[in-house]
Amino acid sequence: MLEKTPADLVLMRKACEITRDALVYAKTLCVAGKSTYDIDKSIEKFIIDSGGKAPCIGYMGYPAATCISVNSMVVHGIPSKDIILKDGDIVSVDLVVSYKGFCGDAARTYFVGEVDEEKKKLVRVTKECFFKGIENVRIGDRIGKISHAVQQHAESNGFSVVRELAGHGIGRKMHEPPEVLNYGKETDGAVIKENMTICIEPMINAGKKDIWLLPDGWGVITRDNKPSAHYENTVLFTNRGIEILTLEKDDEYYSR
Ligand code: MF3
Ligand code: CO
Repeated sequence: MLEKTPADLVLMRKACEITRDALVYAKTLCVAGKSTYDIDKSIEKFIIDSGGKAPCIGYMGYPAATCISVNSMVVHGIPSKDIILKDGDIVSVDLVVSYKGFCGDAARTYFVGEVDEEKKKLVRVTKECFFKGIENVRIGDRIGKISHAVQQHAESNGFSVVRELAGHGIGRKMHEPPEVLNYGKETDGAVIKENMTICIEPMINAGKKDIWLLPDGWGVITRDNKPSAHYENTVLFTNRGIEILTLEKDDEYYSR
């Protein structure tokens, strides 16, 4: 069911609050010298201690609670003891929390120490793509309106949009219809309905759009080895507008 009931939404909101808080916590863990394995284990504990579950564990054989993708890794990086963060890295943390049967899903790209200007701009523009995507979107519009705005903003800044992966509906399952592409025409895609919950997740490359899949079957990296960033929130469409269920309370978006 794409449209959530009021009872569903109580649980969705709680799942999304834990997701948001886990990401705020994750930011404090992304420091030089830490392995992505240790970061994942700490986040998993945080999710459980908050009353949630980590449905990524075992999802199609996935071995961890989170996906942690460093620099040229786009998404789905399997946390590893061999991947140690260092000054100048950008690190994308993507996590799903379930709470009493409903899911929240969000991602952020964090800086480790001081990063170069290209990476700073990439991370800023990737977040802006999300907000450009939801600007002026309302019930009755097509998902393509979001997709088109994301692509437009990324490409006008000289960056490129990964084509092989997309956002998605969310609810009892972490992936539900509709598909939420990060490129395409305004007139494409499903019609947005009241009480629909979806994940919008631009994955933006500093260089070319092309990617490789790692031999582990999960990790996605850029072919040109240039950096990539990810920014994702779970959102709810209401007749009053769009609610960003996983947004940090102190995000500047609230004070616009
Ligand atoms: N959070 C990812 C998404 O946005 C899903 C992670 S894949 C998993 O779709 F295997 F880790 F679950
Ligand atoms: Co997602």
